[in-house]
Amino acid sequence: MFSKTEITRFSNILTPFYYYQLELLKATLDAATKASKPFNYHIHYAFKANTNTEILELIQSYGLGADCVSGNEIKKAITCNYPPEQIVFAGVGKSDTEINIALDNNIFCFNCESIPELEVINELAVKKNKIAQIALRINPNVNANTHHYITTGLEENKFGINRWELEEVLTVLEKLKNLKLIGLHFHIGSQITDLTAFKGLCLRVNEIQEWFYDHQIIVDHINVGGGLGIAYENPKQNLIPDFNAYFKLFNNFIALRPKQQLHFELGRSIVGQCGTLITKVLYVKKGVNTNFVIVDAGMTELIRPALYQAVHAIENLTSNSNEINRYDVVGPICESSDCFGKALMLPTTKRGDLIAINSCGAYGEVMASQYNLRDLVKAVYGKLDERDKGQGKVVSETNNS
Ligand code: LLP
Repeated sequence: MFSKTEITRFSNILTPFYYYQLELLKATLDAATKASKPFNYHIHYAFKANTNTEILELIQSYGLGADCVSGNEIKKAITCNYPPEQIVFAGVGKSDTEINIALDNNIFCFNCESIPELEVINELAVKKNKIAQIALRINPNVNANTHHYITTGLEENKFGINRWELEEVLTVLEKLKNLKLIGLHFHIGSQITDLTAFKGLCLRVNEIQEWFYDHQIIVDHINVGGGLGIAYENPKQNLIPDFNAYFKLFNNFIALRPKQQLHFELGRSIVGQCGTLITKVLYVKKGVNTNFVIVDAGMTELIRPALYQAVHAIENLTSNSNEINRYDVVGPICESSDCFGKALMLPTTKRGDLIAINSCGAYGEVMASQYNLRDLVKAVYGKLDERDKGQGKVVSETNNS
């Protein structure tokens, strides 16, 4: 995945750091936009996956909109030139301050999750003498077959409005004169690799649309959220998700009314594979049944393995050894969950080797913390079109030796 020049460059940068291959991000954006174009689908990039300016600007240049979940994400979208009419604002707990930021910026749509939230948005819109466009986030009760922490579309989850509440929602909406219902919103979960879950979503959306039709309502916009997964275990063979199959599936199974537009909120599938956490081996320590490779990145830089038992492919970039050994790759934090991978077969590894933890572009750097008063992890970019020349733009590069 990395050229020799890149690896040489890594050895001159203070570890740990996130390395972003912008060329790969471009290729991914090319694939996503080409696949969605024949159907005129709208893709909003889910900011929560990665909010680095370089990445947001590149994504914006491909015409994607923004799916924001906080007032600060909305502000960031505006500063990165996302047009307000392409910004949606989701979240089960929008604060008054955040709602006001969205109203002040005239965003496209609030994805609303409860009656009390509708009432507050209306009240704040009245004060500003504005009409807020809203979509109802409906809990479709479809199982996404993914990790339970990132499953969102089941009735037991806190997200969305349940089917049996819809009648009451419509009654309330009639009284909320500063809200305009323009859409229905759904999201069943994240890291979904079995596309049949999305077929289930389409069929449920069709049923729900029938219900609205029976109530004389046809909205202009259907938003089916995000969730398309990436290949964590074998990224090299699957660097770009199969956007063609994904969008075709929606085209085959969702029944849109004439002029109705379909929206997506993709995060991980756009940025997941372009980011890698580069870390250095501090010590190799003998254990009872294994050897520990202790690296200088920990759960502070990448929390996904500790939080979701997530698997990220790990490789030693600099070992010249032909011998393979079994290792547990762990971080320096005083918590047993601070482990990136157990019983991994790696070439003989020694202090100073560079280790790549792959597929970290989504929900990696954004979830980093300063636990233990550690430095916040930094980002390094492979420059566009110059990947193999090793002349990438570097945020802060210091000699590590
Ligand atoms: N739309 C909504 C309403 C969402 O809640 C999410 C993600 C997305 C879109 C984007 O989903 P994506 O296309 O990225 O799957 N931190 C976790 C993932 C949390 C996802 C939360 N919602 C992880 O590291 O796996």
